Amino acid sequence: MNIKESEIGVDEELGLKDKIQNLFEHQIQQEYNNFLIYVKISGYLNKMRLNGLAEYFNKNGTEEVGHGNLLASFMRDQGYTYSICDCNTICDKIEDDMNDYSLYDLVKLSLNREKTNTDNIYYILDFCISNKLGIEEQFTRSFLAEQIEEVEKFQTLLDKLYIAKNEPSAILMIDKEYGEK
Ligand SMILES: [Fe+2]
Ligand SMILES: [Fe+2]
Repeated sequence: MNIKESEIGVDEELGLKDKIQNLFEHQIQQEYNNFLIYVKISGYLNKMRLNGLAEYFNKNGTEEVGHGNLLASFMRDQGYTYSICDCNTICDKIEDDMNDYSLYDLVKLSLNREKTNTDNIYYILDFCISNKLGIEEQFTRSFLAEQIEEVEKFQTLLDKLYIAKNEPSAILMIDKEYGEK
């Protein structure tokens, strides 16, 4: 991947430890933000009476908390520190009202967030490799492996919705399928 595409970067004034600390800290925030977004999406889907997909997004939200916690625990183990924005600040910032979003839009938004995450994690991995941060590199590689699966699963769902178009029976089949995942 091309690092220039990534939304993140490091402050060149900082020392190595602070640079990597900031990168991991930013990623923790991203994971918790995704948790909030997916739970928010779950609420919209529930209103649309798509209970299977609502449940699926809720589960995905829980996974994001797991990712954030994993990063936080790694940082603590390695002697790094971090701070996280409070929930209200995040909720204001993450997305405006998604009321007008279609099901397709909501999944596309999720896919785009996962793609951004993937770019960011590649950036962190490149940073670890070029700065010979062995333990951090190892951790980031395992983190990245799971992240790639995240992109694939939302891409698959989006592809299915694209084929279904706005055909209610097809959408209901997808809803049932994802409710059982
Ligand atoms: Fe994640
Ligand atoms: Fe994710």
